[in-house]
Amino acid sequence: MKLQIAVLPGDGIGPEVTAQAIKVLKAVALEFDHSFHFKFGSVGAIAIDETGNPLPEETLDLCENSDAVLFGSIGHPKYDNDPSAKIRPEQGLLRLRKSLGLYANIRPVKAYDSLLNKSPLKRNIIKGTDISIYRELTGGIYFGDKSLSEDGNQASDLCVYSREEIERITHLAFKSALSRKQKVTLVDKANVLESSRLWRKVVTEISKDYPKVELDYLFVDNAAMQLILNPKQFDVILTENMFGDIISDEASVIGGSIGLLASASIGDKYALFEPIHGSFPQAANKGVANPIASILSAAMLLDHFALYDEAEIIRKGVEKSLKLHISTPDVNTKFDNITTSKVGEFIEDYISNPKDSNLNFTNIHLGQSTII
Ligand code: IPM
Ligand code: MG
Repeated sequence: MKLQIAVLPGDGIGPEVTAQAIKVLKAVALEFDHSFHFKFGSVGAIAIDETGNPLPEETLDLCENSDAVLFGSIGHPKYDNDPSAKIRPEQGLLRLRKSLGLYANIRPVKAYDSLLNKSPLKRNIIKGTDISIYRELTGGIYFGDKSLSEDGNQASDLCVYSREEIERITHLAFKSALSRKQKVTLVDKANVLESSRLWRKVVTEISKDYPKVELDYLFVDNAAMQLILNPKQFDVILTENMFGDIISDEASVIGGSIGLLASASIGDKYALFEPIHGSFPQAANKGVANPIASILSAAMLLDHFALYDEAEIIRKGVEKSLKLHISTPDVNTKFDNITTSKVGEFIEDYISNPKDSNLNFTNIHLGQSTII
């Protein structure tokens, strides 16, 4: 298969982790005889520095003329600590999601057996957790009208949803549940918010088209608690933009590190793949950033084009790297000297040589730990 992939590394650790995902995709292309072509664009704080615009026209053009987008991360503390900043890196990502019509953000959450001890939650609570969060991505409070009064003392953000916006992601969530454990949990705040009541109404109607799938409802406050109390009760979680943003970060605690969580943002025409973590500027260029979320986002990209065997071998490589402690310090309980690029190289090597890589890397790894 021939794919043109737009790469937007962005800020902070974005470029380092994205570079590992590219290594892995190149190994897949070689091994499975595909042709992946990568073209780079700038976005976020770095794009503001270069052009004054967090999403330059050129970058948007590049994405619109590619088969998929591989995104790193954006954000810089100089904007976080300045509430009066008119231009912010995050606007680049939000505008990109909106312009490409990426309405469904899919965030898989999994507890890896080899990392059960890394989570602050108890093993028996998280073991076996496998959740797919369907977060609506182009509506709600993120995109409703915003206002700030002239005296600067009153502000508002409107949360708006239309039936159509709810319908399209709901169908995707139910379809996905059909090939999973056949359960959808709608997370909302229907006891308080009108927009949530519309979600309940529309989702309940659509659920009739999927009689095999069980539909459950949870208020978001309760869902936040249930997620760490009994995460195994969930299969597909369907929710609006802001709730999905919050509970997916919370859910990352189950996996042991936010550095492991990948995501796919899908629309009718375009698709973008990105880790759920931010730009973590304190860690930039130190070789400590976990590239797994970006590498797993690349696997989701391959899934999107029905390259299932190719995606699977990446996931297997990831599991093996975690098992052998070829992982960055955020999840490594054994060694603290495995760098971002070493993890990428291991998985790259696994793809070209799934049988031998175990041996090679155990040896290299042991050698390394005795040298240092
Ligand atoms: C995410 C991020 C973004 C969001 C930010 C960077 C705008 O937190 O993708 O979860 O809030 O959607
Ligand atoms: Mg977030």
